Amino acid sequence: KGKKAFIAGVADDNGYGWAIAKSLAAAGAEILVGTWVPALNIFETSLRRGKFDESRVLPDGSLMEIAKIYPLDAVFDSPEDVPEDVKTNKRYAGSSNWTVKEVAETVKQDFGSIDILVHSLANGPEVTKPLLETSRHGYLAAISASSYSYVSLLKHFLPIMNPGGSSISLTYIASERIIPGYGGGMSSAKAALESDTKVLAFEAGRKYKIRVNTISAGPLRSRAAKAIGFIDMMIDYSLANAPLQKELSAEEVGNTAAFLASPLASAVTGAVVYVDNGLNAMGVGV
Ligand code: NAI
Repeated sequence: KGKKAFIAGVADDNGYGWAIAKSLAAAGAEILVGTWVPALNIFETSLRRGKFDESRVLPDGSLMEIAKIYPLDAVFDSPEDVPEDVKTNKRYAGSSNWTVKEVAETVKQDFGSIDILVHSLANGPEVTKPLLETSRHGYLAAISASSYSYVSLLKHFLPIMNPGGSSISLTYIASERIIPGYGGGMSSAKAALESDTKVLAFEAGRKYKIRVNTISAGPLRSRAAKAIGFIDMMIDYSLANAPLQKELSAEEVGNTAAFLASPLASAVTGAVVYVDNGLNAMGVGV
């Protein structure tokens, strides 16, 4: 039906962002992605060289097309916020218009409006450190990249979203239960993201008729998760303890995102939807 989706946080074919893009593409949406500036080059090159072709195959046999890839750094809202060292950094200097405000403006110029906004990004420079050993700088960086980035994306994209549209972010159960190893203030960042989901659902619902939900996903061996260092343990733990004893596929999260973005979910907003084989419901490991 010609819906347009902007998915922030796609830089390879292993993460949730890619899987969400595929499920939305399979449902007929036009796909725009926002890729972290330092990862842009390798992502575009790999895509061009066909490295992702196998993972681009949709259920009908066609290949997912990405209408446009936008460089994005979601920790900067507008050019005035970018410090000199980043501006002149080799990896950044080669791209332009990658602050959140500029990306929204460029998408507006290119496509006029969108229907679906997906936030599938997180970053915590001190994620491997326990909270008690996390610096103020590391904690605030986690919140900036992983939580405020969503506030900022919505703030700048809502004015170009069609009423009835939908927005989705990705969260993790470490926001509400103790998950040792998910450090650096990342658990705090996810708690903020989930709380903000409710307030943003109210504000975006009233002003723009846009729904705002977050998916609390189970463990996936993405690039970001491998950097945390305990992903294999979390996958094994889920296999041993969840109600559904199977490995979670990124596609299952993608399909839930497609549902939440669709009119089938027209009364669902402000929700944390668990897509984790039911692990969140367990009170004790067995
Ligand atoms: P991923 O590595 O595929 O995605 C993270 C993306 O964020 C990367 O593409 C990275 O380039 C991008 N990024 C980092 N800093 C950025 C910035 N400042 N501006 C723009 N982009 C930036 O990994 P994954 O795991 O698929 O992560 C997607 C979301 O899913 C994240 O919010 C993550 O916390 C969440 N999640 C992941 C789980 C897992 O086990 N992998 C479990 C539950 C939630």
